Amino acid sequence: MKKITTVSALRLLVADWKQAGKRIAFVPTMGNLHQGHLSLVSKATELADKVIVSIFVNPLQFDDKADLSAYPRTVEVDIEQLTSVECDAVFLPTAEIMYPEGMDRQTVITVPGMDDKLCGQARPGHFDGVATVVVKLFNMVQPDVAVFGEKDYQQLLLIKKMVADLNLPLKIIGLPTYREESGLAMSSRNQYLTSKQRKQAASIYRILNDIKTELLNGGADFVKLEQQAKDELTQLGFEPDYVEIRRARNLEPAKQSDKELRILLAARLGKARLIDNIPVTIQS
Ligand code: PAF
Repeated sequence: MKKITTVSALRLLVADWKQAGKRIAFVPTMGNLHQGHLSLVSKATELADKVIVSIFVNPLQFDDKADLSAYPRTVEVDIEQLTSVECDAVFLPTAEIMYPEGMDRQTVITVPGMDDKLCGQARPGHFDGVATVVVKLFNMVQPDVAVFGEKDYQQLLLIKKMVADLNLPLKIIGLPTYREESGLAMSSRNQYLTSKQRKQAASIYRILNDIKTELLNGGADFVKLEQQAKDELTQLGFEPDYVEIRRARNLEPAKQSDKELRILLAARLGKARLIDNIPVTIQS
């Protein structure tokens, strides 16, 4: 596996591969890789001839400085893991490479309608930071396809919209959330949890599935279902941020007539802000 640290070296490698007619798949990450990330890389190997993974803890998407400095950085172990899953190159840029004029002077991408709801409300500027770094990475890597997890469902829709709005020449693939046996969605932030909190955190998936069961059984009072879930989270020791039943396509508030729904949840437990979501299809 090649380790690339500069944009010029990346461009040379990509140009060589393109000249040889190779298709390129890309998996952007912030490192601290777990099985969920590795499943994205495995999918990427099925979709293209060459796979590039980036590892960059993007300061532009952190609204909270303490959160940025606490974010786990485990590059050496990440590189070892990538070597075991047929990744062809890992791109490891620094903040100076990504934002040479500083973050204040960086051109920023805003994806309207996607950036200011749900997680965007609790984390102002977060999605501008995500969209900006992702479009920069796409321009550097020039992939044919990029793979993202559905765990960050709002991020996935935001990136799909950005790619469509800006006519970027690549396909975005979303993969189902990778879960621990308990149902807890895999996340780098899970390591902020104590072992007791980790067990508690598994209730998130159970609560999402309880709402799904209600919806499939004809439950139609979305506000009531959302409130019940928030109350239950509070009783279990979480600080709920939101529990929302939304239209899966664009995350607008769902109507009774909608068939493709997404239930999304964000809650704090101890030091961690946890997010999760599941799809629901209502049969007519
Ligand atoms: O999902 C993530 O890890 C990050 O938001 C991403 C897409 C790598 C951008 O920094």
